[in-house]
Amino acid sequence: MTHARQHTIQVVAHRGASEDAPEHTLAAYVKAIEDGADGLECDVRLTADGHLVCVHDRRVNRTSNGRGAVSTLELADLAQLDFGAWKDPHESPDWGDPEYTSVLTLERLLALVADAGRRIELAVETKHPTRWAGQVEQRLVQQLERFGLTRPPTGSTSPVRVMSFSARSLHRVAAAAPQIPTVYLMQFVSPRRMRDGRLPAGARIAGPSIRTVRNHPSYVERLHQAGHRVHVWTVDDPADVELCAELGVEAIITNRPRQVLSQLGRA
Ligand code: G3P
Ligand code: CA
Repeated sequence: MTHARQHTIQVVAHRGASEDAPEHTLAAYVKAIEDGADGLECDVRLTADGHLVCVHDRRVNRTSNGRGAVSTLELADLAQLDFGAWKDPHESPDWGDPEYTSVLTLERLLALVADAGRRIELAVETKHPTRWAGQVEQRLVQQLERFGLTRPPTGSTSPVRVMSFSARSLHRVAAAAPQIPTVYLMQFVSPRRMRDGRLPAGARIAGPSIRTVRNHPSYVERLHQAGHRVHVWTVDDPADVELCAELGVEAIITNRPRQVLSQLGRA
């Protein structure tokens, strides 16, 4: 490897500290903040009655004791469910306050970040953005506006960024809130994109998978040459953390923020 580590890599907790605590719960996000994570990642979906909640899958079956698609359930339905017990049903830790394992709204997560007492980056990923014809992005921007996050004071940057595999979703966010950084997530990268390092209109930061970075490390340099920051997901293996550090990526998204910070000599 030719690149030296030149900056502090942001360590972003994927779905919270989701190796230790149930993903997308307050328990996981509080743990990530306590562990010293620089940022938090979350996926957002719209409920049937128009609330943005932090849930990864289309259905709640895997991560709660309920069933059904988020888009067909109302927030009050989701509030009845336990999003914590699935994590380790045989040795369920006591997460304390039931709020810690109930459905997490984006609003509650934004409040947690606002009250953290230090700057926490928040990377919000829009899920199923095409299904709702712009409503996910509209609600998201409204919520960010309510927290004063769409117009950062002069000289500072917004701690929130929006990520998506959908270029159209990012385009909508960029049009509605140009000061919010956008991250284009990539599962596979076409040979043309690999060569020129360009991203779709509306996308500012590149979000390649660790598999792409492992197989094509020179792509990181190409993205940097094209003027993009590089945020890599999901980086849990120590060898991958080392690779990302050597390549000089700007952020690592990981399920194990505590261990990654320790490996980077920051904990
Ligand atoms: O951070 C990006 C990553 O979360 C994308 O994949 O499936 O975990 O949402 P997924
Ligand atoms: Ca995600």
